[in-house]
Amino acid sequence: MQSVDGWPSPVAQSGSELGADMATKDVAALKRDAAQAALELVEPGMALGLGSGSTALAFVEALAERVAGGLTVGVCVVTSRATGAAAVKGGIEVVDMMRDDAPTRLDLVVDGADEIDPALRLIKGGGAALLREKVVAQMADRFIVIADASKRVAQLGAFPLPVEIIPFGRAVTLSRLADAAGVTPVLRTRAGGDLVQTDNGNLVADLSIGAIEDPSTLSARLSAIPGVVEHGLFLDEAKGAIIAGDDGISRLTA
Ligand code: A5P
Repeated sequence: MQSVDGWPSPVAQSGSELGADMATKDVAALKRDAAQAALELVEPGMALGLGSGSTALAFVEALAERVAGGLTVGVCVVTSRATGAAAVKGGIEVVDMMRDDAPTRLDLVVDGADEIDPALRLIKGGGAALLREKVVAQMADRFIVIADASKRVAQLGAFPLPVEIIPFGRAVTLSRLADAAGVTPVLRTRAGGDLVQTDNGNLVADLSIGAIEDPSTLSARLSAIPGVVEHGLFLDEAKGAIIAGDDGISRLTA
C-alpha cells in the first residue's frame, strides 16, 4: 500500500480530490464527537491506555483539555511515539513501557480502528502501530473503540490487513503470508518510496484480501508464521464501540 508518511487515510482511499477535501472536514468532526463521548468514561485516577491514529489523537486532545481543567488521571500508557508526543504536549504524563515496573493492567483503553464489524471485531494498524496497540489492548479491563461511522462494515477485509513483520528473512515471511492469505502482500512504503518502519523497527505488509470469511482461522494462520510479529485483526479485544455518525452517537457493546 502506498501511503503518505506511512499513514493511509480512509478518505484518500475513497473519492475524488474535491470529495476527499469535503469529506475530511466532516470525518474530522465526527472523530472529535466520538472522542468527546469516550471522555465520559474517564473517571479521576483511572489508569489509561491511549491508542494511535487521528481518532485516538482527538481523544488525547480532549483528555488534555480535561486534565488542564483539573482532572487527575492515573498512569497513562501510549501505543505509539506519535501519541506519546501528543500526550506530553497536552500535559499528560506518560509511563515508560520499557521499564521493568511498567503497569500490567489498565482501567480503560481508548483506540481507533480501520474497520469494525457487527461483532466488534476490528482491523487495526493503518497507522502501523498495531503491535503496541495490541500489547496495550490486552492490559485493558475495558477496551473501547472510537470511530466515525465510515469504519463500520458488514464484513472485515476491504481495508488491507496490516501485518508487522521483522526485516530479517522478509522474503520468506512474505512468501508464507501469501500462502496463508491467498493474496500477494505489499510492503508499506512512504510517499518517497522508503519502506515504512514501525516504532519497533519492523516492516508492515498489507494484505488486500477482500471479504475475510473466517477471521479466527486467518488470525491463527498469520500468527503461526515465524517472521510475523503481530497482525491487525483484533477479534476479542473490544468491549464496546462509540461510533459518531451524522445521526449522532451510537454505543455498541460486545
Ligand atoms: C493505528 O495503527 C491504527 O490502528 C488506527 O487506530 C487506525 O488506523 C484508525 O486510524 P484513524 O483514527 O486515523 O482512522
